[in-house]
Amino acid sequence: MRKKVTLITGVSGEVGLALVKILSEMGYKDLLTLDIRPLPPEYSQYSNHIQGDILDKSLLNRLVSEYDIETIFHMAALLSTRAEFTPVAAHQVNVEGTMGLLQLAAEQSEWRAEPVMFIFPSSIAAYGMPDLETKSKFPKVKEWEWNYPITMYGCNKLYCEMLGTYFSEYYRQLAAERPQMLDFRCVRFPGLISAFTVPSGGTSDYGPEMLHAAAKGEPYAAFVRPDTQIPFMAMPDAVTALLDLSRAPKQDLSRTVYNVTSFSLTAEQFRLQVLDAFPEAEITFKPDKKRQKIVDSWPADLNDNDARRDWNWKPNFDIHRSFNEYLIPNILNRYLAA
Ligand SMILES: NC(=O)c1ccc[n+]([C@@H]2O[C@H](COP(=O)([O-])OP(=O)(O)OC[C@H]3O[C@@H](n4cnc5c(N)ncnc54)[C@H](O)[C@@H]3O)[C@@H](O)[C@H]2O)c1
Repeated sequence: MRKKVTLITGVSGEVGLALVKILSEMGYKDLLTLDIRPLPPEYSQYSNHIQGDILDKSLLNRLVSEYDIETIFHMAALLSTRAEFTPVAAHQVNVEGTMGLLQLAAEQSEWRAEPVMFIFPSSIAAYGMPDLETKSKFPKVKEWEWNYPITMYGCNKLYCEMLGTYFSEYYRQLAAERPQMLDFRCVRFPGLISAFTVPSGGTSDYGPEMLHAAAKGEPYAAFVRPDTQIPFMAMPDAVTALLDLSRAPKQDLSRTVYNVTSFSLTAEQFRLQVLDAFPEAEITFKPDKKRQKIVDSWPADLNDNDARRDWNWKPNFDIHRSFNEYLIPNILNRYLAA
């Protein structure tokens, strides 16, 4: 008998670390994790970790022969800024890597005669507002609006949303018999902010970077204009969204892709929040024209009504709780302890 497991890819990243810790604390014993990087030693008790590449087909074949994979949280990706510097590698990891795992999940679903659940994190990068005037005219976008991404990462995410939906609803639609489909579910995240990890490679990073630099007593120059506005969410809410969506009864879901968000604020408002806690912080603005263009193409806010209606999505951390109860105290602890 193969062992039943939940697989988390990209576990050594910001979201993956938060997710594996919470799943383990919730009593999930059989967690199998995969990342090209090792798992930090303080997380090693949470899972059986394999250090490897999601593009390694023989590794995926070995996993399938050893484990009965019931659920996949597929977090591995190259993020927006990194993807822009290495677009071909981004396509390979973000699209071909996801395709390989979707194929694995499709085959496993048929083999088990039960759907493998596939949870996928997409991003506000899947949107592309053509200019600032349109961005302010349509401040709170719905899932199907303005899907014209201008980054490799955004294109990768949008296509993978569609690939997942295909595998979940239309896979082998001309075959004589309808196969057992996998169960693909996706959340489109805003910029995520963790108190415990410093982001790298994303284009919403100026928010968390301000905060971590202030806590370390280091000056920081944000790479965007003060009026730049996008939505954000504290990391515990990101994990809650992934878990709540995975637990929702299938019949309640009217979509495969759901926006989720918490609060939206400008870079200047973000700076003021940071100054509230760290009045000495030296935060300035030194916009980088090229990265600015990318953030300007992302919506000012997300409409997450469908997630709220279908699976009772609701962030636990609004702006006040995010800063005062989660970010500031934990970041203070982190750097005081260091
Ligand atoms: N952090 C955010 O603000 C944000 C916002 C929206 C969506 N997301 C999505 O959430 C997911 C997790 O994001 P994150 O912030 O934890 O990113 P991250 O960069 O911190 O982590 C990604 C992880 O994927 C791993 N990885 C990359 N290529 C791999 C490969 N070929 N094989 C195996 N592992 C590989 C990396 O080593 C890393 O540990 C990603 O899919 C990301 O696109 C993140």
